[in-house]
Amino acid sequence: MSEIALKLNKDLENTQAGFLLSQLGKRLFFPRGIVAQAAEASEKANVYNATAGMAFDSGNPLISSAMRNMINGMEPDEYITYAPTPGLKPLRELWLEEIKKKNPTLGNAHTSLPIVVPGLTSGISNCADLFLDKDDNIVLPDLYWGNYSLIMNVRKEVNIKTFTFFKDNRINSEGLKQTLIDSAKNGKVTLLLNFPNNPTGYSPTISEAEEIKNAVLEVAKQNIKILVISDDAYFGLFYEEDIFKESMFAHFANLHENILAAKIDGATKEDYSWGLRVGFITFAGRGLTKIHTDALENKLMGSVRSSFSSSSKLSQALILRSLKSDSYSDEKIKFDEIMRLRYLKVKEILEKRTTGLALKEYPFNSGYFMNFKTEPGFNEKLRLALLEVGIGTISLDTSSLRVAYSCIDIDKLEDLYSNIFKVADTLQ
Ligand SMILES: Cc1ncc(COP(=O)(O)O)c(C=O)c1O
Repeated sequence: MSEIALKLNKDLENTQAGFLLSQLGKRLFFPRGIVAQAAEASEKANVYNATAGMAFDSGNPLISSAMRNMINGMEPDEYITYAPTPGLKPLRELWLEEIKKKNPTLGNAHTSLPIVVPGLTSGISNCADLFLDKDDNIVLPDLYWGNYSLIMNVRKEVNIKTFTFFKDNRINSEGLKQTLIDSAKNGKVTLLLNFPNNPTGYSPTISEAEEIKNAVLEVAKQNIKILVISDDAYFGLFYEEDIFKESMFAHFANLHENILAAKIDGATKEDYSWGLRVGFITFAGRGLTKIHTDALENKLMGSVRSSFSSSSKLSQALILRSLKSDSYSDEKIKFDEIMRLRYLKVKEILEKRTTGLALKEYPFNSGYFMNFKTEPGFNEKLRLALLEVGIGTISLDTSSLRVAYSCIDIDKLEDLYSNIFKVADTLQ
């Protein structure tokens, strides 16, 4: 193992983070190679800088005029040269500031500086690289985003252990706790929470969030080390008063020495920038100080450098500029309100319906989606029949049909749902 990796492992010794590292996580480090030497040269090499693998002319990066003209609001150096491996520092700092503002429960809890990755999927995958080995267990609710299977099961050969998400229309935190205990292996287990949830569109109420927190705490007190990953893809789209309007990361960041909290979030949905591919990974845990989070950041940079190398600088520059722009927060409020009004409309339609009564929806209060629970196989039959009348929905393995009402204008929602009800009634 490299000297640097050994030193990082030593820094993390006797912490939950050190204990939870995967075999790959233990080996990972950010080499003092080309990137580090180029960074050093960018400060000192003021005569000739012949380090990075880029091409310059009279000190400016070579760039086609077509590209330059398309992006004429920015200097080429802001977007065409490589971004630093962990991302643009001002963006990382601003994102952390935003996380703290949006999550007051964090208080003064120490966190790492977010590392930029190309979207949340990459965040989850890189986090899994750091902490999950083949045959480890990860706990999820039984209603979860399908890509978790591809990442955890297919790519990482990790076992997915599920608990029944809802019991009496509330989050089943007792089931969560028991599944964590049953899934602990070699003294460790991983929990992945995603709120607002895909596919149900549900987020915990304040009391449910407390219950989840206490359930995990009780497991931690049984001397089980737990990595809690919060996938906050749809963060902020909370439509009801009683919802816990923060990330669960805020609850876990300083809770117990056996818990490591990882926050995976990004501009994808939170800032309506799906294709720009800007996501972040942030760590925190009770007892972890800067020396520990620096070691984790360094290992993560090794993971980044060895997989996608760095994220798009253009995308990061666009997000940074938009976060700092005058219009940003007003427009975001406007967009969020569009989503909230659609949510209220869907709730009203479902409440007042006189057709489609056999379709039962899971609880939903946030995010982009709502999800109908169906008999096994009926969801796919319904999806295909809906396609015949020009309506696209998603049928899931969990015998349910997901409707992304976030995609449909408010004045079209009545028509969409009356068609879904009509087709469902005809098929029954
Ligand atoms: C729960 C959840 N996490 C992550 C993602 C993906 O985010 P990204 O597009 O940034 O990889 C999605 C998108 O569909 C999602 O539903």
